[in-house]
Amino acid sequence: MKIGDIQISTPVFLAPMAGYADSPFRQLCKEKGAGVVYTEFVSSEGIIRGSEKSFDYLQFLSSERPVGIQLFGHNPDSMAEAARYIEEHFKPDIIDLNFGCSVRKVVKKNAGAALLKDLDLLAEIARKVVKAVKTPVTAKIRSGWNHQSIVALKAADILESAGIQALTIHPRTASDGYKNHADWQIIKEIKQALKIPVIGNGDIKIAEDAIRMFDFTGCDAVMIGRGSFGNPWIFRQTSTLLSGNTSYYIPDLSDRLNMLLRHIELESKYYDDSHINRIMKKFYRWYVRGFSNAANIRNQLIHSKSLIDTISIIESVKQNGTNFKYQIANF
Ligand SMILES: Cc1cc2nc3c(=O)[nH]c(=O)nc-3n(C[C@H](O)[C@H](O)[C@H](O)COP(=O)(O)O)c2cc1C
Repeated sequence: MKIGDIQISTPVFLAPMAGYADSPFRQLCKEKGAGVVYTEFVSSEGIIRGSEKSFDYLQFLSSERPVGIQLFGHNPDSMAEAARYIEEHFKPDIIDLNFGCSVRKVVKKNAGAALLKDLDLLAEIARKVVKAVKTPVTAKIRSGWNHQSIVALKAADILESAGIQALTIHPRTASDGYKNHADWQIIKEIKQALKIPVIGNGDIKIAEDAIRMFDFTGCDAVMIGRGSFGNPWIFRQTSTLLSGNTSYYIPDLSDRLNMLLRHIELESKYYDDSHINRIMKKFYRWYVRGFSNAANIRNQLIHSKSLIDTISIIESVKQNGTNFKYQIANF
């Protein structure tokens, strides 16, 4: 599969996820076989203003390539200017446009999924960004603003005509947030309608779900979000099944805890201890889910006062060797 001229070796992508998919997490997913990884979304206005926080989001290692930087905003000229800046200074493989974020602080500025209510503006943004850069531009959409306005197919058609080189669809509405199920039928209809690659996203909890999505929708690639938390192995597991194998490697207790330690170690190359504690608190429950004593271990980790304490808790759990039962994630 190709996006523009970029050859993609594995059609199993890591989703952009604000507050989670930072460079250390992306590195782990990449090591475990993710075909493309995306940065957390970054504001076009922030880039133009020179906001330091925005520039932090743009950093990635060359080992993460192919990497997509995801932009959000509502002003076509600002989006084009920010895309030009990113291309010149960061040289990502892909620039992705966010037309799917449903959080209040984004939609109230008429950005993210709010643009599904104004397809003319969405089209203008896409056209101006495509024209501004040589880097392949892709987009990520939801199915619509709410169930009374499912516009995914129309938006997909508009985006393809605007020169977008691949489209990701997360088939929930903005009003759904993360409730209800992703409606994979919409991915299927979009795949049938478009010539550009279509990337399916939503509710892939285990590798078998990804295979079901490929089979049901005919999509060119799948994008995995929450299913990768605590389980970056899901990328290689999926490509193992895709290549015809019927089983795959399942990490045991010590694999999971070693991955957690490695995650902390990578974070510590970038951030101070208090920042790491804050980030990692969101991940503990995912790394320990399935342990017979998961709630207890998670509570100890969450209440740990320092990184040194956290690491010694993990080491002691490793030594005590609590039985690990593999469980299907339940978001
Ligand atoms: C914590 C979190 C942060 C997210 N941040 C972004 C984002 O920055 N940009 C984006 O396009 N989608 C974002 N999403 C949506 C995901 O990319 C994805 O579409 C959604 O989680 C559905 O996929 P999943 O069921 O595999 O998790 C976020 C989702 C979560 C859970």
